[in-house]
Amino acid sequence: MKMTAQGLTKEYARKSGNANRFTALHPLDFTLETGALTVLMGRSGSGKSTLLNLLAGLMRPTGGTVLAGETDLFALSDRELSAFRNAHIGVIPQGQTAIYSLSVLENVLLPYTLTGSAEGEEIARAKALLERLDIAGLADISPADLSGGELRRMAIARALVRQPEILLADEPTADLDDENTATVCKALQAAAGAGAAVLMVTHESGAEAYADRMLTMQGGVLSE
Ligand SMILES: Nc1ncnc2c1ncn2[C@@H]1O[C@H](COP(=O)(O)OP(=O)(O)OP(=O)(O)O)[C@@H](O)[C@H]1O
Ligand SMILES: [Mg+2]
Repeated sequence: MKMTAQGLTKEYARKSGNANRFTALHPLDFTLETGALTVLMGRSGSGKSTLLNLLAGLMRPTGGTVLAGETDLFALSDRELSAFRNAHIGVIPQGQTAIYSLSVLENVLLPYTLTGSAEGEEIARAKALLERLDIAGLADISPADLSGGELRRMAIARALVRQPEILLADEPTADLDDENTATVCKALQAAAGAGAAVLMVTHESGAEAYADRMLTMQGGVLSE
């Protein structure tokens, strides 16, 4: 499912100098193509997460629109937007989102259990993802006992489990060693190969090798 942003802009309330508003994202037009892995790089504070969180519908823009396929994300109510995201968009946020009262496997199954229960085939897919990300042995323990890199891989499995048409990954390899970084890049590339529109924010220079398209963010301005 293609994503199209038009005139998308974000200002934050922040006192800097004489201004109370800080423009984190200058108006941008942007298309995230299906079947491709787009890699976004840029310095810390340049607005990468702001863009990704807007595309995920996790916060509302100051102006502009985001279409996911034919759906205008910000025309939806919060409840509709959450349901839409859960069904169509896999998000790997920059921060931690583990639920500590659930096991690792249950965390990965959340996209199903939020709206119902997980079927056998879905549980099998979750387990296969844990296997692929080399954390199958941790399926039944609490995320509280996981390392940073293991938590990251759990979040990646959760974002992939519903085979989303759009996948948005914010520095998914930040806490990972070279081997796991390659595994994760390959998993994102495979999702693109299966037809998803995939965006990965990263500082990893090696990510270029996996990218179908490279973008750079500089001071809230996106360029090819
Ligand atoms: N909630 C907020 N309120 C005010 N300013 C914010 C808020 N969130 C982000 N900013 C500012 O907007 C700018 C862009 O932030 P953003 O998180 O998008 O950067 P980033 O490119 O993802 O950086 P990093 O590589 O460090 O994750 C930063 O200068 C940041 O301080
Ligand atoms: Mg960020």
